[in-house]
Amino acid sequence: MSITTRVWIAGAGGRLGSALCRRFDRNTGFRLLASDLDVRVEDSFQVGHFADLNHPDVIINCAGLTDVRACERQPEEAYKVNAIGARNLAVAARRIDAKLIQLSTDDVFDGAASSALCEFDDAHPATMYGKSKYAGEKLVRELTDKHVIVRSSWLYGAGADDFVDQVLQAAARGETVRLPEDEISSPTSADALAGFIEYLVGAREYGLYHASCEGACSRAEFAREILRLSGFADSVVEPAAADETLRPRFTLLDNMMMRITGIYHMPDWREALGMYLSERNAGGLA
Ligand SMILES: NC(=O)c1ccc[n+]([C@@H]2O[C@H](COP(=O)([O-])OP(=O)(O)OC[C@H]3O[C@@H](n4cnc5c(N)ncnc54)[C@H](OP(=O)(O)O)[C@@H]3O)[C@@H](O)[C@H]2O)c1
Repeated sequence: MSITTRVWIAGAGGRLGSALCRRFDRNTGFRLLASDLDVRVEDSFQVGHFADLNHPDVIINCAGLTDVRACERQPEEAYKVNAIGARNLAVAARRIDAKLIQLSTDDVFDGAASSALCEFDDAHPATMYGKSKYAGEKLVRELTDKHVIVRSSWLYGAGADDFVDQVLQAAARGETVRLPEDEISSPTSADALAGFIEYLVGAREYGLYHASCEGACSRAEFAREILRLSGFADSVVEPAAADETLRPRFTLLDNMMMRITGIYHMPDWREALGMYLSERNAGGLA
């Protein structure tokens, strides 16, 4: 008799959620349970009901208010989804003895560092998005032992309008895109991150992991690489003034825990971007 792992993906319609759904859907070792706005994570009744009905072995929380400007405009909404949502999933996970994989962000750092940040560096979020995500991390740590918190950065992928779409759409319209040369992190493909999360589902790993693609670049460099790989001139990228972005300046994550435990290796960001764009252009991500 085969044993299948029941995996609940909350926020399944987003960039990472849809990459995970594609991955788990084609693997017979998993039974996929997907929810999005039909189970609002800030509603403890809806979350508890779904957990009791489906009894997942693993819950992956990809749900979130990820629009940085919306979080600044509506701080309570940000805390509701990003912090209370994480709390509700942690409480449900503990009750049904499921492992919780909680997604978090490089925005838990304020951008003041000048070298890559590892899991042992203290978080100091500056934006409302970062503050609400960090509150979610703390609640998960407090409320359930069987958890893994995964921080990543500059996620792109099919499933939601993202930075890659915005840059390509602007280039197709012949517009220039204004982006900072001094906002530094690592673009991470949702597919590459989904590979690490699939590993975590089956592994006896707990605690905090940074999981970004290897290497570093600026926002402007990221856009130029998207354009170059898609056959557009990269001259449409112009430098932005420092006050045009709400994002922290330097939030490059060091995947130190992954490296010192020897469990996994993330691909280089250019290689992952090339793979994503060629699959997307071939229509494989529809
Ligand atoms: N995007 C990044 O650059 C980035 C970087 C590092 C970490 N992360 C984290 O990684 C996770 C996944 O990110 P992503 O880029 O895949 O996000 P995303 O594309 O914005 O997807 C989030 C999903 O959650 C849904 N959602 C929103 N509010 C919800 C609620 N109250 N209850 C249930 N579902 C809700 C969204 O639906 P609607 O779209 O219809 O609102 C969307 O389908 C998030 O926790 C995010 O904080 C993201």
